[in-house]
Amino acid sequence: MKITRFASPKGVSPVIGIYPGTFDPLTSGHLDLIGRGSHLVDRLIVAVLANEAKHPLFSMEERTEMLREATAHFPNVEVDSFNGLLVQFAQARGAKLLLRGIRAVSDYEYELQMALMNRRLNPNIETVFLMAGESYSFLSSRMVKEVIRLGGDVSQMVPPNVEHRLRARLLGAAAGPE
Ligand code: PNS
Repeated sequence: MKITRFASPKGVSPVIGIYPGTFDPLTSGHLDLIGRGSHLVDRLIVAVLANEAKHPLFSMEERTEMLREATAHFPNVEVDSFNGLLVQFAQARGAKLLLRGIRAVSDYEYELQMALMNRRLNPNIETVFLMAGESYSFLSSRMVKEVIRLGGDVSQMVPPNVEHRLRARLLGAAAGPE
């Protein structure tokens, strides 16, 4: 099905949205949300939180590179990284919309707190939620890492470039062609 993008009419400022996250690593659920979210705005910036205090498996450079590879076919999506407050990054990039996905009820409280805090910090920036695709509502980066560590099949859970890097990082698999 071809989905039409809600592009702003000529003369109207383009709507820029930010899809923030840790993306350690990107999953197929994130990718689904990026695709759907990209139809709602003129430009979608996928923003990787650089914060190394979270001890991510992949460095910020690796996470952004995987995202760039996996989103190259979306013409209005770009990948960037940020440190510090999300709303400050959004303001600096001229974005008025934050995009987040909700998988299950358990996500709601955390997302509500974050959305309300961001609104308190900058009432001009609105958070918009999309429900996770039903085939991805169980999926998380943490679980993908656990499954691959224990020898499970993650090919439906992450894009091929991410699976390749996960195997190399966690299983020491030779980094052959993807
Ligand atoms: O993928 P995640 O880990 O759920 O994403 C969380 C993220 C990056 C969106 C959130 O931690 C964040 O925005 N951090 C930046 C710091 C900030 O702005 N904090 C105030 C709002 S809670």
